[in-house]
Amino acid sequence: MSKILVTGGTGYIGSHTVVELQQKGHEVIIVDNLSNSQKDVLDNIFSITGIKPEFEQFSLYDREKTLDFFSRHKEIDAIIHFAAYKAVGESVEKPLMYYHNNIFSLVNILDGMIENNIDTIVFSSSCTVYGQPDELPVSENAPIKKAMSPYGNTKQISEEVITDTVHSSKIKAILLRYFNPIGAHESAKIGELPLGVPNNLIPFITQTVIGIREQLKVFGDTYDTPDGTPIRDYIHVVDLAKAHVIAVSRMLEQKNKKNLEIFNLGTGNGYSVLEVINSFEKVTGEKLNYIIVAPRAGDVTEVWADTKFANDELGWKAEKGIDEMNLSAWNWEKALAEKKG
Ligand code: UD1
Repeated sequence: MSKILVTGGTGYIGSHTVVELQQKGHEVIIVDNLSNSQKDVLDNIFSITGIKPEFEQFSLYDREKTLDFFSRHKEIDAIIHFAAYKAVGESVEKPLMYYHNNIFSLVNILDGMIENNIDTIVFSSSCTVYGQPDELPVSENAPIKKAMSPYGNTKQISEEVITDTVHSSKIKAILLRYFNPIGAHESAKIGELPLGVPNNLIPFITQTVIGIREQLKVFGDTYDTPDGTPIRDYIHVVDLAKAHVIAVSRMLEQKNKKNLEIFNLGTGNGYSVLEVINSFEKVTGEKLNYIIVAPRAGDVTEVWADTKFANDELGWKAEKGIDEMNLSAWNWEKALAEKKG
């Protein structure tokens, strides 16, 4: 059994990963500043796994607190680093907030690792680093394109910071580039909790159908795709969480082939916005109120993953399809509504 630090462990992907880690017998300690998540997520994790993870609340961009944390936790074997801001639009408005939080936190963690001889990190990256790729499906060898937003740029810079650190130290790293994570745990006890108006498609759909939002705006239907709406590779968050457990174990068990490895995490299947809506309406029996409006600035036309390398080399494959993703997201939204009463 290993002890894993999960930064951002009360967040959306973090909380699902904590559950999968605990269920595989790992001990987890979470650091999160609760800037975009809530403390009761810890109770919800407990109600799924029967284990309450250790938790400390502070910001990893606070260098003193971060280095103090590491000096008090010499027992940590590996880190899965999620803690970061992730709203594309907000990053355009407040770029320095994004660079400050996302980059300084990473640098502090890497310093803490070196000072305390922790040599294993999994990093939460994004397919956004590929922009609109020239070839589909997108493999890990596709060129990195200029970032479309400060948020995307923080992912690119973070990958470079980690790469340079791996080359100059004993640290080994796996960068996981996610496509579009959606859905929720089958227990409906943890899921996505967007602050304010959601930017992403699925939370906007579920909030509209439950009555929190009036209408979904479908951003454009004149893209060069079969039905004119953009295509993405949606992946169930639990499949994604499992990939993190495999990635961290791969390094802890010395099965990694290189000190820096990169994997795309998607299903390999692309769905258009209208296909997602059709699947949602079919599996839930609900009707979604939506309207087609102008395209959103910065959206790419289509992107889906080449899953071969992750399948063959990581030994991981996404198992859940779009219907299951939508149903779990809807069950989570309903559970939230019941809790509020
Ligand atoms: C975005 C980010 C990506 C980030 C991911 C998760 C960009 C270019 N990419 O992905 O870097 O990792 O979020 O935070 O911003 N849509 C609507 N109406 C809505 C919302 C979305 O039609 O109200 C459409 C979008 O046009 C898109 C699809 O739904 O075609 C998915 O959008 P979204 O969930 O926001 O994810 P991405 O934009 O793909």
